Amino acid sequence: MKLTILGGGGFRVPLVYGALLTDHAEGRVTEVVLHDLDDSRLYAVARVLAEQASTVAGAPTVTATTDLDEALRGADFVFSAIRVGGLEGRANDERVALAEGVLGQETVGAGGIAYGLRTVPVAVDIARRVARLAPDAWVINFTNPAGLVTEAMSRHLGDRVIGICDSPVGLGRRIARVLGANPREAFIDYVGLNHLGWVRGLRVAGRDELPRLLADSDLLGSFEEGKLFGVDWLRSLGAIPNEYLHYYYFNRETVRAYQQAEKTRGAFLRDQQARFYEEMRRPDAAALTAWDRTRAEREATYMSENRETAGAGERDADDLSGGYEKVALALMRAIARDERTTLILNVRNQGALSVLDTDAVIEVPCLVDANGAHPVAVAPLPDHATGLVCAVKGVEREVLAATESGSRASAVKAFALHPLVDSVNVARRLVEGYTAVHPGLAYLG
Ligand code: G6P
Ligand code: MN
Repeated sequence: MKLTILGGGGFRVPLVYGALLTDHAEGRVTEVVLHDLDDSRLYAVARVLAEQASTVAGAPTVTATTDLDEALRGADFVFSAIRVGGLEGRANDERVALAEGVLGQETVGAGGIAYGLRTVPVAVDIARRVARLAPDAWVINFTNPAGLVTEAMSRHLGDRVIGICDSPVGLGRRIARVLGANPREAFIDYVGLNHLGWVRGLRVAGRDELPRLLADSDLLGSFEEGKLFGVDWLRSLGAIPNEYLHYYYFNRETVRAYQQAEKTRGAFLRDQQARFYEEMRRPDAAALTAWDRTRAEREATYMSENRETAGAGERDADDLSGGYEKVALALMRAIARDERTTLILNVRNQGALSVLDTDAVIEVPCLVDANGAHPVAVAPLPDHATGLVCAVKGVEREVLAATESGSRASAVKAFALHPLVDSVNVARRLVEGYTAVHPGLAYLG
């Protein structure tokens, strides 16, 4: 089984490779091909992988290339984990938005739109090449904004592209843990768009345990989302939102905190990772140790401004292990070996959430087997959540229209219609600001 990783020089590739090393079963991945535009990043990551593999018998072979078509040919699975414009681009997404007084997060609000506008054309090119060169491959999209990018690719790959994110899984795991339930036995009733979803129930043997959590202040305030949103607000909602909804429900505070931060998240990661890749140039560097130290710092500081505004304190030790590589591996196993399982994934709606059309990519529990991921029909969302989901899907569709037509007016419309952008004039200035800093937006005439 051949797995191609696009963005193969990316910092989180060793997480994926580490997950592959735990898989010894028949039908596992035996060959990993890393693709990246940047040779030195490939070299750095390959060094980490080599150290990871050194103690494991039968570790998947690793090769690296900067030739995209060569990387794709013959692939059974393609992981797409690219970052168009790099972390410098992410820092610019944040800076331009914050200067206008609106959020610049990489997936939420103006920043997510800017990132989407320059990523979609590249993702679509990849999708077209996969369709031509590896028509039977399954594409697992990690690239943010994951829902939007998956929808763009699905227009060329249909249901053979599946988007993943670890935040719903982490949320489900935390809720199960505080309720004393086994996450493997619990069905998480979660739905929405990527980074815009809500847990409305957690069923164990058919019984919904969420009301028990909502009724118990101590339990409710004891985990990440309880600390972030506050017990009272969760109870008012009657649901547990994805952590990214903190940017919506506490928008004013998060924007201010990001404006006042010494460095935005993108700038912090840009500098932190630059140090890591620089260190990897030294022939005597201890690659895996340096990588792990950098990773731990990244995990510990994740959403730190949000947690600070909420007075949430440090992250729980259990939440520091990420988990997106586990979702990816579980998904790959389910498809490659028909190991049936239920995972929360980004797939075309197909009627699961009836308020959106069938081709809209949503984030929803799916039954996964050798035939792919099949969304489970879910109960409708309450009106306010439906409103947000529809508004943001409308924005995503404007982004897709802008990338297809090159229309600047569509780009302005995408920003202006976003619930976290409060004026059409702001939207116009955002388009000016972003096209001035991002070469990848030159197509917007
Ligand atoms: C979460 C999100 C991902 C994001 C990751 C890293 O897992 O769901 O979409 O890529 O965090 O965030 P960071 O701010 O460290 O890049
Ligand atoms: Mn995510």
